[in-house]
Amino acid sequence: MATTRVLISQAEIQHRIGTLAAEIEKDYPSTEEIHLVAVLKGGFMFMSDLVRAMSDRVTMDFMAVSSYGKDTTSSGQVRVLKDLDSNLEGRHVIVVEDIVDTGLTLHYLQDLLKARKPKTMKTACLLSKPSRRKVDVTVDYIGFTIDDHFVVGYGLDYAEKYRNLPYIAVLEQ
Ligand code: IMP
Ligand code: MG
Repeated sequence: MATTRVLISQAEIQHRIGTLAAEIEKDYPSTEEIHLVAVLKGGFMFMSDLVRAMSDRVTMDFMAVSSYGKDTTSSGQVRVLKDLDSNLEGRHVIVVEDIVDTGLTLHYLQDLLKARKPKTMKTACLLSKPSRRKVDVTVDYIGFTIDDHFVVGYGLDYAEKYRNLPYIAVLEQ
């Protein structure tokens, strides 16, 4: 059984999300709605805390994707397992993701969603591992920049486990 070492504590995450929410709110005209699209499953916990730190002009939707065979994804092709319930046309959309690693998933997703003609589209990721980037992808809001560790917790999994941890941890054998 692997043990976990805390990399980013629950308190640090909650504090950072408060700052991010305030930053997002001030970036949009106060009378306009902001539509958040979480990428399942990893993005669920970040979404849930982020929307609770925002005002009642926020709406949300969920999408589930999976990479086509993790090791052979040079194309970054992703499969949509669950699509959005409502359309994005004319809305201020923010894609909410757990982590940007190579950037391939996000790059593909941004193209897919931009084609649906949102009024604006931005991306918020709790974590970024810039040293692993393979494609240049724009992430407008980043919670924390981390080194090249495999991390779990706060939505992120290893073989579907550890998503429930309220903090970000590194797995140790
Ligand atoms: P990318 O396409 O390489 O940017 O990978 C993005 C996806 O890979 C994320 O949405 C995660 O699901 C997964 N991923 C990347 N790094 C980690 C990690 O350190 N822990 C858990 N999942 C990760
Ligand atoms: Mg993910």
